[in-house]
Amino acid sequence: MTQEIKASELNPEEFIAKQVEEIRNTVGDGIAINALSGGVDSSVVTMIGHKAVGEQLKTYFIDHGMMREGEPEQVKELFESFGVKVEIYDAREEFFNALEGIDDPEEKREAITRTFYRDVFGKLVRETGAKFLMQGTILTDVDETVAGIKRQHNILTQIGVDTEKEFGYRVLEPLIQLRKDGVRVVAEALELPEDIYNRMPFLGPALAGRVIGEVTPARIATVRAATTIIEEELAESGAFQYMAILHKDRVTGMREGEREFGQQIELRCWESVDARVATPTRIPYETLEKMATRIVGEVPGIVSVTYNITPKPPSTMEAV
Ligand code: XMP
Repeated sequence: MTQEIKASELNPEEFIAKQVEEIRNTVGDGIAINALSGGVDSSVVTMIGHKAVGEQLKTYFIDHGMMREGEPEQVKELFESFGVKVEIYDAREEFFNALEGIDDPEEKREAITRTFYRDVFGKLVRETGAKFLMQGTILTDVDETVAGIKRQHNILTQIGVDTEKEFGYRVLEPLIQLRKDGVRVVAEALELPEDIYNRMPFLGPALAGRVIGEVTPARIATVRAATTIIEEELAESGAFQYMAILHKDRVTGMREGEREFGQQIELRCWESVDARVATPTRIPYETLEKMATRIVGEVPGIVSVTYNITPKPPSTMEAV
């Protein structure tokens, strides 16, 4: 059982020093890799890892083609301004091929995990000679996977996967005792900018987790366009997390007097502390209306926009 460190009990400087020492002892003069998405968890791991072993840690941004608008370049530029070299690894074809024809949420998650850990990281460790993969798994990720609610993409050893045997590397998880609020405290102590430590959580499977049914480049483009709109409109909301979800079922709409059997976007916006429970934000009706008007006007093929008013539980925050 992993011992939780609550945000209120956390001494971030001591925590960082302890993790740095452990990473140094484990990696020794070897090589480690890590994937940076720009979210607070992977950003903190990147900074702690580089503090610990410097250039022996190779940092990659895995571009699976399912990130938000402009994300790969923005993240690379930001970290390079902190002196951390980030290589963008183009895995778009690998991910879209792996997801082709898959409808079931758990099968989709399984395909994403396999592509990340076996194909992409497997190849990167072979190319770099790395023996370790460092990643920002936190306690909440473990809880839900172990409870069988949904398999989070980064959970392996905790459900009995022997990564050394299966993929050829050991996984290091310096943040495993923390929850999101604790990670934010550590991020601030590392002097990461506020837009990183207060950054809204974004899931590893990225927009694939926000497409119900088959994930294709076209469906990702649709959900990405709606995501840009909700993120613009709710940027000042102070909510924990907000998202646009593309539904599979079509509905009859009309445009310019003609029938359009179109697609539906569901919007969600959450109030939460650590993502274990959450309630929908009471967004002003005018804001909801504005988002709906923009989405049906600016995102091709969308004829219906809804807002989720169900708390977690029984909902979960993401739809897949
Ligand atoms: P759920 O949907 O389980 O989400 O209520 C709780 C929090 O976890 C994030 N989430 C994930 N994060 N890999 C991740 O890194 C995943 O597979 C994953 N699934 C959900 C979600 O965005 C929310 O903050």
